[in-house]
Parts: sequence; structure tokens; C-alpha cells
Amino acid sequence: MQVNDDQGTAVPGAQVEFHGTAGVSFDPAAILTDSSGQATTSVTLGTVAGRYHLSAITPGKSKPATIDVVETALGYQQQVGSILADKYCSRCHDPESSPERVSNYDNLAVKPHTFTDGATLNKMSDADLTAIIQHGGPALSRSALMPPYGNTLSGADVRALIAYTRAVADPPYEPAGTVYARK
Ligand code: HEC
Repeated sequence: MQVNDDQGTAVPGAQVEFHGTAGVSFDPAAILTDSSGQATTSVTLGTVAGRYHLSAITPGKSKPATIDVVETALGYQQQVGSILADKYCSRCHDPESSPERVSNYDNLAVKPHTFTDGATLNKMSDADLTAIIQHGGPALSRSALMPPYGNTLSGADVRALIAYTRAVADPPYEPAGTVYARK
């Protein structure tokens, strides 16, 4: 969290409080900003899989600074999917390289989407996702740069990958036929 004044200058010694939905804990829950106006905390999410909203505020200011971070805690099947995605998919689907993995994204003539890209993936049914993962891009008349994994991954693996992409989708995935109450 970075606290600046109206001129955009860092504010040292400002009180920052962290808040989250039930089950979330912060260490520390309140702290003063350092000489560069920054405040840092560690967040522990609850044990229930789902979306957690986190916010940081500077109390008593006419314009409270708030951030809203959505964190997704993964259930067992989604966690399996996350590990499979790291192993087989991320080198193409994640444009960012990490110390363990160089991204292949920039070399691809047709660009895949990140698994968090709900705007794209939410429109695809589970059957379409299964088809493209098992049989490759041409199964949905798409690029053969998307390889087939039907001989590499089991049906349970593919379901885990789909569960993972549904869990991390932003905007959130809402299965067809489910009606959500809204505030
Ligand atoms: C060698 C690179 C590569 C790897 C590895 C790869 N993909 Fe893809 N994938 C692509 C490309 C390229 C497309 C876009 C195809 C198109 O739109 O014509 C794509 C498209 C997709 C799509 C359709 C949505 C989108 O992003 O456009 C899904 C779903 C998908 N891949 C899932 C996976 C999964 C799951 C894995 C790992 C098991 C995986 N891919 C591994 C290259 C890859």
C-alpha cells in the first residue's frame, strides 16, 4: 500500500488499516507508512475456497485510500488443476516469464488467453474446453498451435484444469442456468 498526498508526494507515518472478509487475517492489521509512504502486511486467507475482498484504508482522511484485491483460495480439485496448468500450459498461456519458466507467448503467431481471462473463457462451455484441451485448437476450428492433450492428460486432469480456470476467472464464471441474487 502506497500513501500519497494530493500532490502525489509520499506520506510517511500515515496510519493504514487492513480489512478483509470473514476468515481473513492480517499481520499486522494496522501499521504506519515508512519513509517512502509504504505500508506492508502479510495476508492469510480463510480455509474455505472462494473469493476474498481485501481493503486498505487510511482512517480519518477526507479521501480514504482503498484498494480492493480479489484473492481466490483454491479447493483440492482446483489446486490440482493449478499444478497441471503450471506444468503443461502456462509457458504459452501466461505472457510473463518466471525464474523457473521462460514464456513462449511472444513466439506464438496466434495468442492464447490467460486462464484468468473470464471475458474469453466464460463464454466457452465445459464441453468446448474439454474438446480443445483433449483434441487441440483444430477441434474448435482454431489454431493448431494449441496442442492436443488427450494422450497426456486423464479425464480427471482435464476436469481439474477446467475447475481451476473457472475458479480464477475474472470477471467471475457464472454457470449457465444458475441465478445469482444481487445486492
Ligand atoms: C504450445 C503453446 C500452448 C500450450 C502449451 C497450451 N496452449 Fe492452449 N492455446 C494455445 C494457442 C496458440 C491458443 C489459441 C488458439 C486460437 O485461438 O486459435 C490456445 C487456446 C486455448 C484455449 C481456448 C481459449 C484461448 O485461450 O484462446 C484453451 C481453453 C486452452 N488453450 C487450454 C490449454 C490448456 C488447458 C493447456 C495445458 C494443458 C494449454 N492450453 C496449453 C497454445 C498453447
